[in-house]
This record gives sequence, C-alpha cells and structure tokens, in this order.
Amino acid sequence: MDETINCANCHNPANMELRPYSEPLKDWLKRTNQVWDKLSRNEKRSLVCAQCHVEYYFQHADNGPAANPIFPWDNGFGPEDMYQYYKEHGKKDATGKPGPFVDFVHAASKTPIIKIQHPEYETFIDGPHGAAGVSCADCHMQYQRVDGKKVSSH
Ligand code: HEC
Ligand code: HEC
Ligand code: HEC
Repeated sequence: MDETINCANCHNPANMELRPYSEPLKDWLKRTNQVWDKLSRNEKRSLVCAQCHVEYYFQHADNGPAANPIFPWDNGFGPEDMYQYYKEHGKKDATGKPGPFVDFVHAASKTPIIKIQHPEYETFIDGPHGAAGVSCADCHMQYQRVDGKKVSSH
C-alpha cells in the first residue's frame, strides 16, 4: 500500500503481459481506433510509460465530466498541435463555443497559461528515437543477465 506505482500499473496480474492501466491513455487509444493487443511489442514498451510521463489536463465542466483527465493529442504530439487543441477545449463563451483552455493564471500579471506537465512521451515520439522505433524501455530498462537469465532492468 506504500508503493502507489507497482507491477499492476504496467502488467496484467493474471498473465504478466504489458497492459494499459491509465484511463486517459485507454480513452486516447479508443478515440484513435487503436487496439492494445494489435500494437507492436516496442510500442507497448513505450506506451506503458506514456501512462504517466505525458502532458495531460483536467477537463472543464462545460465540456463533460469535470476534472476528467485527458491527453491533448487529437491534433498530434508537437507543442503547436497541443496549443491548437487547447484553443478550443476551455470554458464555453456566451455563444456556447468552447474558448481557450487555461489551468494557471499568473498571480501578478493575471496572464492565463497552459501548465504543461512532463511530456517525455511526446518529446520522444516526434524525435529521432521515436521515429526509428526505439522504445523507452530500450534505454531505461536495459537487458541484463541474472543467474544466466535475460531480464529487463526494472
Ligand atoms: C504510474 C505512473 C508512472 C509510470 C507508468 C512510469 N513512471 Fe516514471 N516516474 C513516475 C513518477 C511519479 C516519478 C518520480 C518523479 C519524481 O520523483 O519527481 C518517475 C520517475 C522516473 C524517472 C526518473 C526521473 C528523475 O527525475 O529522476 C525516469 C527516468 C522514469 N520515471 C522513466 C520511466 C519509464 C522509462 C517508464 C516506462 C517503462 C516509466 N517511467 C513509467 C511515474 C511513472
Ligand atoms: C535513446 C535512449 C532513450 C530513450 C529512447 C528514452 N530515454 Fe529518457 N533519458 C535518456 C537519457 C540518456 C536521459 C538523461 C539521463 C541523465 O541526464 O542522467 C534520459 C532522461 C529521462 C528522464 C529524466 C531523468 C532525470 O534524471 O531528469 C525521464 C523522466 C525520461 N528520460 C523518461 C523517458 C521516457 C518516458 C521515454 C519514452 C517515452 C524515454 N525516456 C526514452 C535516454 C533515453
Ligand atoms: C513502468 C512499467 C513497469 C512496471 C511498473 C513493472 N514492469 Fe515489468 N516490465 C515492463 C516492461 C516494459 C517489460 C519488458 C516487456 C517486453 O519487453 O516485452 C517488463 C518485463 C517484465 C518481465 C518479463 C521478463 C523481463 O524482464 O523482460 C517480468 C517477469 C516483469 N516485468 C515483472 C515485473 C514485476 C514483478 C513488477 C513489480 C515489482 C514489474 N514488472 C513492474 C514494465 C514494467
């Protein structure tokens, strides 16, 4: 109970296969018609990390369940793609059209800001390693031999 990130975040406890646990990741897979079981092994070896190492936001009540966590990837993974997405996912104006999303207002200048979290997956997937089909686990969980068995360093 002290370890809030554990095996079940990435592994199906019944058979130890990699699986998605995070709701916003599962929602994004559904929106983009991707089925987990059909993804390549290396895609899974990165997407388990994309459960947490990503940008996300909490939905404004005007657009659906309040505070529902969502990955803002519908236009792509680049900063400009996400900026365009955010422009129309905030509080609705008088005409009922969603305005710009804001999750931080600077105390002194009152400037509305989008507070980007930790977009490791987005940075990676649009970079040379993502394009080449490398996975997060290839670098961060390198293979090692333990009693003659090849395992991924956890
Ligand atoms: C369930 C959420 C979750 C998942 C899944 C997850 N991480 Fe993390 N990761 C975290 C948190 C939380 C931290 C700690 C951040 C801190 O201490 O500030 C962290 C820390 C890290 C760090 C160290 C960062 C630092 O500042 O020292 C690395 C590297 C990392 N994770 C890589 C990965 C990789 C690679 C994967 C996939 C194999 C992964 N993580 C999956 C939540 C997650
Ligand atoms: C090509 C190898 C490679 C790939 C692929 C890769 N990383 Fe990294 N990552 C690194 C290296 C090297 C560092 C820098 C480590 C350092 O500065 O100590 C790093 C740094 C990080 C950090 C910050 C660690 C810190 O101490 O500040 C996080 C978090 C992280 N990576 C997560 C990920 C995630 C998630 C993925 C996949 C989406 C990924 N990385 C893909 C090699 C890689
Ligand atoms: C952040 C995600 C993540 C967490 C948390 C995690 N694993 Fe893994 N695990 C992976 C990845 C990625 C692989 C490599 C799978 C592959 O290459 O097909 C893996 C592979 C394995 C394997 C297969 C052998 C190997 O090493 O490649 C075992 C067994 C395993 N994990 C056990 C565990 C156990 C037990 C825990 C909890 C103590 C755990 N894992 C937690 C991501 C995770």
